[in-house]
Amino acid sequence: MKLTNVNENNWDELIKHDRVHQKLYTNQEIFAEEMTKIFAMTWVYLAHESEVPNVNDYKTGYLGSRPIIVTRDRHDEFRVLFNRCTHRGATVCRSDRGSAKVFTCPYHGWNFKNNGDLAGVPWPKAYGADFDTSEWGLKQARVESYRGFIFGTLNLNAPSLVDYLGPARELLDQWLDRYDGKKIVVGNAHRMVYKGNWKLTFDNAADGYHVSFSHRSLFETAGRMGEDKDMSYFAESPDYGPMVVQYLGNGHTFIDQRPNYKNIGDFWKQQRPQPGREVYEEIIRERYQDAADGLLDQAIGAQMYLNIFPNLCLIGNQIQVIQPHAVDKTELIWYSTTVEGLPEEINMLRMRTQEDFPAFGEPDDMTNFEECHLGLTIPEVEWVHTGRGLGVSGRQTVDERGVVSGPVTDELHIRNYYQEWKRLMSQPTTKTICENVKGGVSSL
Ligand code: FES
Ligand code: FE
Repeated sequence: MKLTNVNENNWDELIKHDRVHQKLYTNQEIFAEEMTKIFAMTWVYLAHESEVPNVNDYKTGYLGSRPIIVTRDRHDEFRVLFNRCTHRGATVCRSDRGSAKVFTCPYHGWNFKNNGDLAGVPWPKAYGADFDTSEWGLKQARVESYRGFIFGTLNLNAPSLVDYLGPARELLDQWLDRYDGKKIVVGNAHRMVYKGNWKLTFDNAADGYHVSFSHRSLFETAGRMGEDKDMSYFAESPDYGPMVVQYLGNGHTFIDQRPNYKNIGDFWKQQRPQPGREVYEEIIRERYQDAADGLLDQAIGAQMYLNIFPNLCLIGNQIQVIQPHAVDKTELIWYSTTVEGLPEEINMLRMRTQEDFPAFGEPDDMTNFEECHLGLTIPEVEWVHTGRGLGVSGRQTVDERGVVSGPVTDELHIRNYYQEWKRLMSQPTTKTICENVKGGVSSL
Protein backbone atom coordinates (compact mmCIF):
# COMPACT_ATOMS: atom_id res chain seq x y z
CA MET A 1 0.00 0.00 0.00
CA LYS A 2 1.33 3.38 -0.96
CA LEU A 3 0.70 6.68 0.77
CA THR A 4 1.32 9.39 -1.76
CA ASN A 5 -0.50 12.38 -0.37
CA VAL A 6 -1.81 12.68 3.16
CA ASN A 7 -4.36 15.23 2.00
CA GLU A 8 -6.17 12.58 0.02
CA ASN A 9 -7.94 11.61 3.24
CA ASN A 10 -7.23 7.96 2.78
CA TRP A 11 -7.13 7.35 6.50
CA ASP A 12 -9.42 4.32 6.20
CA GLU A 13 -6.53 2.58 4.49
CA LEU A 14 -4.25 3.32 7.42
CA ILE A 15 -6.63 2.77 10.34
CA LYS A 16 -8.48 -0.54 10.41
CA HIS A 17 -10.65 -2.00 13.14
CA ASP A 18 -7.82 -4.11 14.59
CA ARG A 19 -4.65 -2.42 13.33
CA VAL A 20 -3.04 0.89 12.39
CA HIS A 21 -0.32 1.56 9.86
CA GLN A 22 3.30 2.18 10.85
CA LYS A 23 3.32 5.41 8.79
CA LEU A 24 1.16 7.05 11.43
CA TYR A 25 4.26 6.98 13.65
CA THR A 26 7.02 7.62 11.14
CA ASN A 27 5.74 9.78 8.27
CA GLN A 28 6.90 13.41 8.31
CA GLU A 29 3.92 14.70 6.27
CA ILE A 30 1.45 13.12 8.65
CA PHE A 31 3.26 14.68 11.60
CA ALA A 32 3.09 18.12 9.99
CA GLU A 33 -0.62 17.63 9.34
CA GLU A 34 -1.15 16.63 12.99
CA MET A 35 0.39 19.89 14.17
CA THR A 36 -2.46 21.71 12.40
CA LYS A 37 -5.43 19.37 12.54
CA ILE A 38 -4.84 17.94 16.03
CA PHE A 39 -2.56 20.41 17.86
CA ALA A 40 -4.43 23.51 16.70
CA MET A 41 -8.02 22.38 16.28
CA THR A 42 -8.48 20.64 19.67
CA TRP A 43 -7.99 22.13 23.14
CA VAL A 44 -4.31 21.68 24.04
CA TYR A 45 -3.12 21.90 27.68
CA LEU A 46 -0.63 24.78 28.04
CA ALA A 47 -0.08 25.72 31.67
CA HIS A 48 -1.47 25.61 35.19
CA GLU A 49 -2.73 28.80 36.77
CA SER A 50 -0.37 28.30 39.71
CA GLU A 51 2.57 28.69 37.31
CA VAL A 52 1.42 32.25 36.60
CA PRO A 53 0.03 33.11 40.05
CA ASN A 54 0.23 36.91 39.89
CA VAL A 55 -0.79 39.64 37.48
CA ASN A 56 1.94 40.10 34.82
CA ASP A 57 3.36 36.58 35.31
CA TYR A 58 4.12 34.49 32.25
CA LYS A 59 5.28 31.07 31.17
CA THR A 60 6.59 30.06 27.75
CA GLY A 61 5.85 26.78 26.01
CA TYR A 62 4.36 25.36 22.84
CA LEU A 63 0.98 24.94 21.23
CA GLY A 64 1.83 21.95 19.08
CA SER A 65 5.06 23.12 17.51
CA ARG A 66 4.26 26.85 17.83
CA PRO A 67 6.21 28.73 20.51
CA ILE A 68 3.79 30.58 22.78
CA ILE A 69 3.69 32.71 25.91
CA VAL A 70 0.92 32.16 28.45
CA THR A 71 0.40 35.41 30.34
CA ARG A 72 -1.78 36.69 33.14
CA ASP A 73 -2.27 40.22 31.84
CA ARG A 74 -2.71 43.41 33.87
CA HIS A 75 -6.47 42.83 33.94
CA ASP A 76 -5.91 39.36 35.46
CA GLU A 77 -6.95 37.64 32.25
CA PHE A 78 -5.09 34.73 30.72
CA ARG A 79 -3.68 35.15 27.23
CA VAL A 80 -2.00 32.72 24.89
CA LEU A 81 0.29 34.81 22.69
CA PHE A 82 2.38 33.53 19.82
CA ASN A 83 6.00 34.00 20.82
CA ARG A 84 6.75 35.47 17.44
CA CYS A 85 7.65 39.08 16.86
CA THR A 86 5.40 40.61 14.23
CA HIS A 87 8.40 42.54 12.83
CA ARG A 88 10.72 39.90 11.43
CA GLY A 89 9.75 36.77 13.34
CA ALA A 90 12.11 36.46 16.33
CA THR A 91 10.80 35.05 19.60
CA VAL A 92 10.16 37.99 21.90
CA CYS A 93 10.43 36.07 25.19
CA ARG A 94 13.29 33.68 25.84
CA SER A 95 12.81 32.70 29.49
CA ASP A 96 10.81 29.76 30.83
CA ARG A 97 8.90 31.78 33.43
CA GLY A 98 8.87 35.24 34.91
CA SER A 99 7.01 38.48 35.31
CA ALA A 100 6.81 41.19 32.65
CA LYS A 101 4.40 43.97 31.78
CA VAL A 102 6.11 44.33 28.43
CA PHE A 103 8.04 41.97 26.17
CA THR A 104 10.79 43.73 24.23
CA CYS A 105 12.03 41.86 21.21
CA PRO A 106 15.80 41.41 21.51
CA TYR A 107 16.31 41.82 17.76
CA HIS A 108 15.21 45.43 16.97
CA GLY A 109 13.40 46.42 20.13
CA TRP A 110 9.72 46.31 19.18
CA ASN A 111 7.84 46.06 22.46
CA PHE A 112 4.54 44.40 23.25
CA LYS A 113 2.21 44.61 26.24
CA ASN A 114 1.43 41.31 27.96
CA ASN A 115 -2.05 41.38 26.39
CA GLY A 116 -0.33 41.23 22.98
CA ASP A 117 -0.78 44.88 21.94
CA LEU A 118 2.15 46.53 20.19
CA ALA A 119 3.22 49.21 22.66
CA GLY A 120 5.93 50.87 20.58
CA VAL A 121 8.75 50.61 18.10
CA PRO A 122 12.14 52.34 18.24
CA TRP A 123 12.37 55.64 16.28
CA PRO A 124 8.76 55.52 15.07
CA LYS A 125 9.06 58.53 12.76
CA ALA A 126 10.59 56.22 10.15
CA TYR A 127 7.25 54.49 9.68
CA GLY A 128 4.73 56.00 7.29
CA ALA A 129 1.21 57.15 8.01
CA ASP A 130 -0.27 53.79 7.04
CA PHE A 131 1.65 51.97 9.78
CA ASP A 132 -1.16 50.96 12.13
CA THR A 133 0.18 49.62 15.44
CA SER A 134 -3.15 47.91 16.18
CA GLU A 135 -2.47 45.61 13.22
CA TRP A 136 0.92 44.49 14.50
CA GLY A 137 0.23 43.13 17.99
CA LEU A 138 1.29 39.59 18.94
CA LYS A 139 -1.16 37.09 17.47
CA GLN A 140 -3.01 35.02 19.99
CA ALA A 141 -4.98 31.83 20.47
CA ARG A 142 -8.36 31.22 22.05
CA VAL A 143 -7.92 30.33 25.72
CA GLU A 144 -10.07 28.73 28.43
CA SER A 145 -9.27 27.49 31.90
CA TYR A 146 -10.92 24.78 34.00
CA ARG A 147 -10.13 24.56 37.73
CA GLY A 148 -6.60 25.81 37.20
CA PHE A 149 -5.83 24.00 33.94
CA ILE A 150 -5.26 26.45 31.06
CA PHE A 151 -5.90 25.21 27.53
CA GLY A 152 -5.60 26.92 24.14
CA THR A 153 -6.89 26.28 20.65
CA LEU A 154 -6.78 28.00 17.27
CA ASN A 155 -10.24 26.71 16.43
CA LEU A 156 -12.92 29.35 16.90
CA ASN A 157 -15.54 26.67 16.26
CA ALA A 158 -14.22 24.29 18.92
CA PRO A 159 -16.76 23.48 21.64
CA SER A 160 -16.29 25.03 25.07
CA LEU A 161 -13.47 23.44 27.08
CA VAL A 162 -15.99 21.89 29.46
CA ASP A 163 -17.84 20.26 26.56
CA TYR A 164 -14.55 19.09 25.11
CA LEU A 165 -13.61 17.44 28.40
CA GLY A 166 -16.99 15.65 28.51
CA PRO A 167 -16.95 12.70 30.94
CA ALA A 168 -13.25 13.41 31.59
CA ARG A 169 -14.34 16.50 33.51
CA GLU A 170 -15.93 14.46 36.29
CA LEU A 171 -12.73 12.42 36.64
CA LEU A 172 -10.62 15.58 36.69
CA ASP A 173 -12.92 16.83 39.46
CA GLN A 174 -12.34 13.59 41.39
CA TRP A 175 -8.58 13.96 40.95
CA LEU A 176 -8.79 17.49 42.40
CA ASP A 177 -11.43 16.83 45.07
CA ARG A 178 -9.17 14.48 47.03
CA TYR A 179 -7.94 17.55 48.88
CA ASP A 180 -11.20 18.90 50.34
CA GLY A 181 -11.16 22.09 48.29
CA LYS A 182 -7.46 22.85 48.77
CA LYS A 183 -5.73 23.99 45.59
CA ILE A 184 -2.88 22.19 43.88
CA VAL A 185 0.29 24.06 43.04
CA VAL A 186 2.40 22.96 40.10
CA GLY A 187 6.15 22.89 40.77
CA ASN A 188 9.24 22.07 38.80
CA ALA A 189 9.50 19.23 36.34
CA HIS A 190 11.49 16.23 35.23
CA ARG A 191 12.06 16.65 31.50
CA MET A 192 12.90 13.68 29.31
CA VAL A 193 13.30 13.32 25.57
CA TYR A 194 12.96 10.13 23.56
CA LYS A 195 13.56 9.31 19.92
CA GLY A 196 10.05 8.35 18.90
CA ASN A 197 6.60 9.62 17.96
CA TRP A 198 4.32 11.37 20.48
CA LYS A 199 1.48 8.86 20.00
CA LEU A 200 3.63 6.08 21.44
CA THR A 201 3.12 7.84 24.78
CA PHE A 202 -0.60 8.38 24.29
CA ASP A 203 -1.03 4.68 23.34
CA ASN A 204 0.82 3.71 26.49
CA ALA A 205 -0.93 6.13 28.83
CA ALA A 206 -3.97 3.84 29.20
CA ASP A 207 -2.14 0.57 28.55
CA GLY A 208 -2.64 -1.87 31.41
CA TYR A 209 -1.24 -4.71 29.30
CA HIS A 210 2.43 -3.79 29.44
CA VAL A 211 2.80 -3.13 33.14
CA SER A 212 3.66 -6.57 34.47
CA PHE A 213 6.26 -7.04 31.72
CA SER A 214 7.78 -3.60 31.14
CA HIS A 215 7.99 -2.75 34.84
CA ARG A 216 9.02 -6.18 36.11
CA SER A 217 12.08 -4.80 37.90
CA LEU A 218 9.85 -2.47 39.94
CA PHE A 219 7.69 -5.41 41.02
CA GLU A 220 10.76 -7.38 41.99
CA THR A 221 12.07 -4.51 44.09
CA ALA A 222 8.71 -4.07 45.78
CA GLY A 223 8.27 -7.82 46.20
CA ARG A 224 11.42 -8.02 48.28
CA MET A 225 9.82 -5.63 50.76
CA GLY A 226 6.57 -7.54 51.30
CA GLU A 227 3.30 -8.35 49.61
CA ASP A 228 0.62 -6.11 48.10
CA LYS A 229 2.94 -3.34 47.12
CA ASP A 230 2.01 -0.74 44.55
CA MET A 231 1.08 -2.12 41.12
CA SER A 232 1.64 -5.75 42.17
CA TYR A 233 -2.02 -6.30 41.23
CA PHE A 234 -1.03 -5.90 37.59
CA ALA A 235 0.80 -9.20 37.82
CA GLU A 236 -2.24 -11.03 39.23
CA SER A 237 -4.46 -11.84 36.24
CA PRO A 238 -5.48 -8.24 35.54
CA ASP A 239 -7.96 -9.49 32.90
CA TYR A 240 -10.16 -10.73 35.74
CA GLY A 241 -9.44 -8.02 38.32
CA PRO A 242 -11.48 -4.94 39.21
CA MET A 243 -9.39 -2.39 37.24
CA VAL A 244 -10.82 -0.95 34.04
CA VAL A 245 -9.63 0.96 31.01
CA GLN A 246 -12.09 3.45 29.55
CA TYR A 247 -12.55 5.51 26.43
CA LEU A 248 -14.22 8.77 27.43
CA GLY A 249 -14.87 10.36 24.01
CA ASN A 250 -13.02 13.16 22.13
CA GLY A 251 -9.83 11.08 22.33
CA HIS A 252 -9.64 11.03 26.16
CA THR A 253 -8.75 7.78 27.94
CA PHE A 254 -8.59 6.53 31.53
CA ILE A 255 -7.31 3.72 33.72
CA ASP A 256 -8.83 3.33 37.16
CA GLN A 257 -6.69 1.53 39.72
CA ARG A 258 -8.75 2.73 42.67
CA PRO A 259 -10.81 -0.49 42.98
CA ASN A 260 -7.63 -2.06 44.40
CA TYR A 261 -7.70 0.35 47.35
CA LYS A 262 -10.54 -0.27 49.77
CA ASN A 263 -9.72 1.55 53.01
CA ILE A 264 -8.27 4.83 54.21
CA GLY A 265 -4.55 4.25 54.54
CA ASP A 266 -4.39 1.68 51.74
CA PHE A 267 -2.82 4.08 49.25
CA TRP A 268 0.07 4.74 51.58
CA LYS A 269 0.47 1.14 52.80
CA GLN A 270 0.72 -0.22 49.27
CA GLN A 271 3.44 2.17 48.16
CA ARG A 272 6.81 0.86 47.20
CA PRO A 273 9.60 1.56 49.69
CA GLN A 274 11.12 5.00 49.21
CA PRO A 275 14.33 5.69 51.12
CA GLY A 276 13.93 8.43 53.69
CA ARG A 277 10.16 8.54 53.90
CA GLU A 278 10.07 6.84 57.33
CA VAL A 279 11.13 10.06 59.04
CA TYR A 280 8.23 11.98 57.52
CA GLU A 281 5.77 9.23 58.38
CA GLU A 282 6.90 9.25 62.00
CA ILE A 283 6.41 13.00 62.30
CA ILE A 284 2.97 12.87 60.65
CA ARG A 285 1.76 9.98 62.83
CA GLU A 286 2.94 11.63 66.00
CA ARG A 287 1.48 15.02 65.13
CA TYR A 288 -1.81 14.04 63.51
CA GLN A 289 -2.62 10.72 65.23
CA ASP A 290 -5.93 9.36 63.83
CA ALA A 291 -5.87 11.75 60.87
CA ALA A 292 -2.43 10.51 59.80
CA ASP A 293 -3.62 7.70 57.51
CA GLY A 294 -5.80 10.08 55.51
CA LEU A 295 -3.01 12.64 55.23
CA LEU A 296 -0.43 10.06 54.17
CA ASP A 297 -2.82 8.88 51.43
CA GLN A 298 -2.78 12.45 50.12
CA ALA A 299 1.01 12.31 49.84
CA ILE A 300 0.80 9.88 46.97
CA GLY A 301 -1.04 9.48 43.73
CA ALA A 302 -4.77 9.19 43.16
CA GLN A 303 -4.30 5.83 41.36
CA MET A 304 -6.09 7.45 38.43
CA TYR A 305 -4.52 7.68 34.99
CA LEU A 306 -6.50 10.34 33.15
CA ASN A 307 -5.37 11.27 29.65
CA ILE A 308 -6.81 14.37 28.01
CA PHE A 309 -6.21 14.18 24.26
CA PRO A 310 -3.80 15.09 22.85
CA ASN A 311 -1.14 16.11 25.37
CA LEU A 312 -2.13 16.01 29.08
CA CYS A 313 -1.79 12.97 31.35
CA LEU A 314 -2.61 13.05 35.05
CA ILE A 315 -0.56 10.24 36.54
CA GLY A 316 -0.51 9.67 40.27
CA ASN A 317 -0.05 13.13 41.74
CA GLN A 318 1.94 14.34 38.74
CA ILE A 319 0.98 16.24 35.61
CA GLN A 320 2.65 14.87 32.52
CA VAL A 321 2.72 16.88 29.31
CA ILE A 322 3.47 15.24 25.96
CA GLN A 323 5.40 17.71 23.82
CA PRO A 324 6.00 16.64 20.20
CA HIS A 325 9.13 18.19 18.68
CA ALA A 326 9.44 16.11 15.50
CA VAL A 327 7.92 12.97 14.03
CA ASP A 328 10.63 11.01 15.84
CA LYS A 329 11.36 13.26 18.83
CA THR A 330 9.11 13.78 21.83
CA GLU A 331 9.63 15.48 25.17
CA LEU A 332 7.84 14.24 28.29
CA ILE A 333 7.52 16.80 31.05
CA TRP A 334 6.53 15.50 34.49
CA TYR A 335 5.46 18.33 36.77
CA SER A 336 5.40 17.75 40.50
CA THR A 337 2.46 19.07 42.49
CA THR A 338 1.98 20.20 46.06
CA VAL A 339 -1.26 21.16 47.78
CA GLU A 340 -1.87 24.48 49.52
CA GLY A 341 -2.64 23.95 53.18
CA LEU A 342 -1.36 20.38 53.56
CA PRO A 343 1.37 19.82 56.19
CA GLU A 344 4.84 20.56 54.90
CA GLU A 345 5.91 16.95 55.47
CA ILE A 346 3.10 15.69 53.22
CA ASN A 347 4.12 18.10 50.48
CA MET A 348 7.75 17.00 50.87
CA LEU A 349 6.61 13.41 50.33
CA ARG A 350 4.62 14.50 47.28
CA MET A 351 7.74 16.08 45.84
CA ARG A 352 9.70 12.90 46.53
CA THR A 353 7.29 10.83 44.43
CA GLN A 354 9.21 12.44 41.54
CA GLU A 355 11.99 10.08 42.61
CA ASP A 356 9.69 7.09 42.27
CA PHE A 357 7.83 6.37 39.02
CA PRO A 358 9.23 9.21 36.86
CA ALA A 359 12.75 8.13 37.83
CA PHE A 360 12.35 4.35 38.09
CA GLY A 361 9.37 3.48 35.89
CA GLU A 362 9.31 5.96 33.03
CA PRO A 363 12.74 4.89 31.72
CA ASP A 364 11.20 1.43 31.15
CA ASP A 365 8.47 3.01 29.05
CA MET A 366 10.76 5.40 27.18
CA THR A 367 13.06 2.52 26.26
CA ASN A 368 10.07 0.74 24.77
CA PHE A 369 9.00 3.89 22.90
CA GLU A 370 12.45 4.18 21.32
CA GLU A 371 12.58 0.48 20.49
CA CYS A 372 9.05 0.67 19.01
CA HIS A 373 10.14 3.58 16.88
CA LEU A 374 13.15 1.66 15.64
CA GLY A 375 11.00 -1.34 14.76
CA LEU A 376 8.37 0.83 13.11
CA THR A 377 10.92 2.28 10.69
CA ILE A 378 10.94 -1.05 8.81
CA PRO A 379 8.68 -0.18 5.87
CA GLU A 380 8.02 -3.76 4.82
CA VAL A 381 6.18 -4.59 8.06
CA GLU A 382 3.19 -2.33 7.85
CA TRP A 383 0.82 -2.98 10.71
CA VAL A 384 0.61 -2.32 14.44
CA HIS A 385 -1.85 -4.67 16.12
CA THR A 386 -4.45 -2.95 18.30
CA GLY A 387 -7.06 -5.71 18.51
CA ARG A 388 -6.76 -7.02 22.05
CA GLY A 389 -10.30 -7.51 23.40
CA LEU A 390 -11.96 -7.31 19.97
CA GLY A 391 -14.47 -10.02 19.11
CA VAL A 392 -14.46 -11.49 22.61
CA SER A 393 -17.99 -11.32 23.95
CA GLY A 394 -18.71 -9.88 27.36
CA ARG A 395 -15.51 -7.85 27.72
CA GLN A 396 -16.72 -4.38 26.79
CA THR A 397 -19.59 -2.26 28.05
CA VAL A 398 -20.85 1.13 26.87
CA ASP A 399 -22.77 3.33 29.27
CA GLU A 400 -25.42 5.96 28.57
CA ARG A 401 -22.73 8.64 28.09
CA GLY A 402 -21.00 6.55 25.46
CA VAL A 403 -18.08 5.71 27.78
CA VAL A 404 -16.55 2.39 26.70
CA SER A 405 -15.12 0.20 29.50
CA GLY A 406 -13.23 -3.07 29.52
CA PRO A 407 -10.63 -5.05 31.42
CA VAL A 408 -7.52 -3.00 32.05
CA THR A 409 -5.47 -4.97 29.52
CA ASP A 410 -7.78 -4.19 26.58
CA GLU A 411 -6.62 -2.03 23.70
CA LEU A 412 -10.02 -0.37 23.33
CA HIS A 413 -8.46 3.00 24.23
CA ILE A 414 -6.17 2.90 21.19
CA ARG A 415 -8.88 1.74 18.78
CA ASN A 416 -11.26 4.46 19.94
CA TYR A 417 -8.90 7.41 20.12
CA TYR A 418 -7.70 6.63 16.61
CA GLN A 419 -11.29 7.01 15.39
CA GLU A 420 -11.26 10.53 16.82
CA TRP A 421 -7.79 11.11 15.33
CA LYS A 422 -9.15 10.01 11.94
CA ARG A 423 -12.16 12.31 12.25
CA LEU A 424 -9.92 15.28 13.03
CA MET A 425 -7.41 14.51 10.31
CA SER A 426 -10.18 14.08 7.74
CA GLN A 427 -11.42 17.62 8.17
CA PRO A 428 -10.47 20.14 5.53
CA THR A 429 -7.57 22.37 6.46
CA THR A 430 -8.95 25.38 8.28
CA LYS A 431 -7.34 28.74 7.93
CA THR A 432 -5.59 29.68 11.15
CA ILE A 433 -7.94 31.90 13.05
CA CYS A 434 -5.66 33.61 15.50
CA GLU A 435 -6.12 37.05 13.99
CA ASN A 436 -9.79 36.91 14.94
CA VAL A 437 -9.18 36.24 18.63
CA LYS A 438 -9.47 39.27 20.82
CA GLY A 439 -10.05 38.95 24.55
CA GLY A 440 -8.35 36.73 27.12
CA VAL A 441 -10.18 34.78 29.79
CA SER A 442 -10.44 34.99 33.56
CA SER A 443 -9.92 32.08 35.91
CA LEU A 444 -12.99 29.81 36.31
FE1 FES B 1 11.52 41.68 16.60
FE2 FES B 1 12.78 42.93 14.68
S1 FES B 1 12.32 40.83 14.83
S2 FES B 1 12.00 43.76 16.52
FE1 FE C 1 4.46 2.00 31.89
